[in-house]
Amino acid sequence: MRTAQHLPVEVAGLGSYLPERILSNHDLEAIVDTSDEWIVPRTGIRERRIAADEQATSDLAVAAARRALQDAALTAKELDVILVATCTPDHLFPATACLVQAAIGPTDAMACDLEAACSGFVYGFVYASGLIASGMADNVLLVGAETLSRVTDYTDRRSCILFGDGAGAAVLRRTRNGGELLYAELGADGSRPEILEIPAGGTRLPASHQTVDERRHYMQLQGREVFKLAVNKLIELMQRIPEQTGIGLDEIKMVLPHQSNVRIIKSALERSGLEMEKAYMNIDTVGNTSAASIPLAMAEAAACGKLQRGDLALLLAFGGGLTWGSALIRY
Ligand code: UT7
Repeated sequence: MRTAQHLPVEVAGLGSYLPERILSNHDLEAIVDTSDEWIVPRTGIRERRIAADEQATSDLAVAAARRALQDAALTAKELDVILVATCTPDHLFPATACLVQAAIGPTDAMACDLEAACSGFVYGFVYASGLIASGMADNVLLVGAETLSRVTDYTDRRSCILFGDGAGAAVLRRTRNGGELLYAELGADGSRPEILEIPAGGTRLPASHQTVDERRHYMQLQGREVFKLAVNKLIELMQRIPEQTGIGLDEIKMVLPHQSNVRIIKSALERSGLEMEKAYMNIDTVGNTSAASIPLAMAEAAACGKLQRGDLALLLAFGGGLTWGSALIRY
């Protein structure tokens, strides 16, 4: 797509929510043929959170959204738009964003979901910025929320070790305090959907006894293939930042990557001439939470003071679709 530059949009508030239940690598050892010794060096993950039986994605999203609104000192009534980036919605419809709207209201903000898998939050950030820059919205609530445990196959050791549940939220608004979206780029390649997919449950392969018996409602991934493509695309996205903006990668205070695998991030950063210390990582405690991972990391980085007002931060994602995106912001 055409890239976006210098949009007057800032993050006014951040919030996150993680379910209480922890699923550690040692817990997984009792479920599938794996080990902490295999998982940690290959992924960086030690544990992940799992939603309670009665919790769905909107419940996680609402908890994060309330915290973000409080952090922004904004009421739900002041919102113009609610976007929920998720690939694990409560229902096919209504949109999870509508359920969030009802729970945090009263508000008549427009509400819809955005499905770009792991890139959903970066896509949402750019959509929200476009709405704000065009004058169609002043305040946007953007949530990344996932309950991936519901679509994870806990008999498949190649995938079940990766995923966790959680939600992160940001309130974006027209700039008042010097924040900015300096540069953004989004892209997709839909020609190889099978690399990362949930085959059944949609209109192509509706739910049937057979699809259930064949475990086709769970995520299936070609891990090695995704790994290679992700590293190469993240490097390309980073290369274009100095080319397009004149801002050197060394001027960026913090990289907030989608937490897919510590080796993917390390390899992409190091091959771009950046130290791993530039990246804010929390994959060890939350695993891969798809669209929730960047706002979860961002909220955590801001809460612990590592991400500060005025800092340049680079949001970076690659995931199912295949989709990808970068957004360079002044926080
Ligand atoms: O955010 C976007 C979605 N994320 C992804 O799609 C993940 C991207 N890919 C990855 O993170 C890595 O490819 C994985 C962590 C999924 C797998 O790591 P890998 O180094 O690519 O392993 P592999 O799939 O090539 O498997 C190597 C070996 C195999 O054994 P053989 O065939 O060589 O004997 C696997 O059976 O490791 C075995 N293996 C395991 N062993 C213990 C695979 N998973 C496990 C496991 N525990 N959990």
